[in-house]
Amino acid sequence: MRSVPQDHDLSRLSPATVAVSGGRPARVQGAPVNPPIVLSSTYVSQGEPGPAPELLYARSGTETWLPFEETLAALERAELPALVYGSGMAAIAAALSLIPHGGRVVVPRHAYQVLHGYLADLTARSRVEVVVVDIAETDQVIAALTPGTSMLWIESPTNPMLEVADLPALIAAARAAGALTVVDNTFATPLVQRPLGLGADVVVHSVTKYLAGHSDVVLGAALSDDPALHARLLAYRTLHGAIAGPAEVYLALRGLRTLALRVERAQANALELARRLSEHPDVVEVRHPGLPGDPGHARATAQMTGYGAILGVRPTGGADGADAVVAALRLWVPATSLGGVESSIERRRRFGTESITVPSDLLRLSVGIEDVEDLWRDLDRALRGR
Ligand SMILES: Cc1ncc(COP(=O)(O)O)c(C=O)c1O
Repeated sequence: MRSVPQDHDLSRLSPATVAVSGGRPARVQGAPVNPPIVLSSTYVSQGEPGPAPELLYARSGTETWLPFEETLAALERAELPALVYGSGMAAIAAALSLIPHGGRVVVPRHAYQVLHGYLADLTARSRVEVVVVDIAETDQVIAALTPGTSMLWIESPTNPMLEVADLPALIAAARAAGALTVVDNTFATPLVQRPLGLGADVVVHSVTKYLAGHSDVVLGAALSDDPALHARLLAYRTLHGAIAGPAEVYLALRGLRTLALRVERAQANALELARRLSEHPDVVEVRHPGLPGDPGHARATAQMTGYGAILGVRPTGGADGADAVVAALRLWVPATSLGGVESSIERRRRFGTESITVPSDLLRLSVGIEDVEDLWRDLDRALRGR
């Protein structure tokens, strides 16, 4: 078969190009341009399996995962492949499994609420000890990294308060204290922030959000460049069966192809809406790291290449006023989750499990890639016409 030369060194390419060209099949005459979905639970194999990873049984690995895992690793500038999981929570569970029995983990008070739910469950079974901090208060976090702390968990920007952690300072302090650092990079995406390059031990993603980008799959991923940690994250996936279906991973790679375009457009829309909402008479407060007056602005400017596309907005009228805004919208989708091409909105405290330090009237807006004027008209009308 004739093969066509291709540039395999993804590390020399910009992220937008990596997202498009990573994980393609070999350029052989007549080969497909996209990696195929292989639907097989088992592979032809006999005799004692060799030490090198090989295709044997689909809980241990399938060829449909690999192109996505390689491309995500290239985007995060990781040396070792990403590990795809059946959900972001499965990736989170794998990362938390790195804490030794009874070990202490320092976590942001504002973080994805199901992380807190899971930690409460682990605490109730004496599996871990949890210390909650304000992740934006660097001195407070460092003071919490007492000897014997096993792990520092970081979300930045945080869900849903959009606080920005000082990643270089916190990662260095955790390392000095002998603790692993895990960064949930879901909100920023590797296009905007690369925590492994700042020394983080593990990065986790809800692939469900921006990476897949179309609100059609639930998936997660974890990355680590430490071979021992990588092996444990992989073992967790195999032993717990926390695996992804091939079709979902195919869709995630398809979504990843347009990540740069989507993030660029969504961020531009978000910043424009944040500016306009800050001056709106029916808005009390806007949280977005891109706003010069936002508490996280200077830090985000220093360590991120953008500000993400999530906004926190508190309209006038309290929680009822916020619910009325959601009800009056026609274009924005009232839904949980985020990071899809469509703009969505929800009042986070509608969940009884959300932290009570999140204002009850806070609306979390996931800004999509629609025309910004259409998004603005819908928001402005809903805010005024309640
Ligand atoms: C920041 C963050 N991390 C993790 C998760 C969990 O991911 P999944 O829903 O894919 O399990 C979410 C989900 O909303 C999230 O927002």
